[in-house]
Amino acid sequence: MKTNNVDPSAGAWIETIDKSRLPEHVAIIMDGNGRWAQSQGLPRIIGHQAGIKSVKKITRAANDIGIKALTLYAFSTENWSRPETEITGLMTLLCKFLKIEVESLNKQNVQLRVMGRIHQLPELVQKELALSIEKTAMNSGLILNIALNYSGRADIIDAVSRLAVDIHAGKIQANEINEAVFQGYLSTSDLPEVDLLIRTSGEMRISNFLLWEIAYTEIWLTPVYWPAFNREHFYQALIDYQKRKRRFGGTVAL
Ligand code: FPP
Repeated sequence: MKTNNVDPSAGAWIETIDKSRLPEHVAIIMDGNGRWAQSQGLPRIIGHQAGIKSVKKITRAANDIGIKALTLYAFSTENWSRPETEITGLMTLLCKFLKIEVESLNKQNVQLRVMGRIHQLPELVQKELALSIEKTAMNSGLILNIALNYSGRADIIDAVSRLAVDIHAGKIQANEINEAVFQGYLSTSDLPEVDLLIRTSGEMRISNFLLWEIAYTEIWLTPVYWPAFNREHFYQALIDYQKRKRRFGGTVAL
């Protein structure tokens, strides 16, 4: 069995985190690539390139500390409205990332997954994704779940559609539907609850991400642009999470 290989540069931060009270599933809206680049007079695509470096850093940081699942919002169903050159640039970067990083993910025992309307992505991207998912499928460390051509609303609609098919096929009756049953039809059905949502770049919105899943998620916002977001910022978010009192609508902190 592979073990997670802790980065020696993890530093003192990792020691200050209570490993018994970690969020099981952290989701991140990786925002600010464009502004990070523009603030330095660089083209937006350089920001996305730098954003990939942060993806690598934060995947390692999450795996090192023992987070079970990390969901990254990489491309939304609304992002198709961006200039074609930026979309092509993003897809090319994604393919490069998969090709170059799959071995490193494997060494780190990270299991890659994707969610979203993958069948609408360019064929080459679909092919690279399938290959990388297959190569890392047996890994038992962090689940790195990349949201691609994803939106919370689209995922709910797709879940409703799958549920309707099952009702039509007689596999489930309408009066048997409850929250747990419905959740089973979402893309995140086999992942732990999203305990912590991080958004970078100072924006304070959800942007159609994980709408069902974040009902009781703790939110941590930072003005730091995604390309500048590093291990220390990530661990700060975990430390802050551990100070929160989660009551889930009740009066007692759990
Ligand atoms: C938001 O910044 C970022 C995106 C829409 C793309 C995120 C993609 C990556 C980090 C690279 C690919 C990811 C993986 C998982 C390999 P923005 O462009 O909206 O920035 P802005 O708000 O400053 O314009």
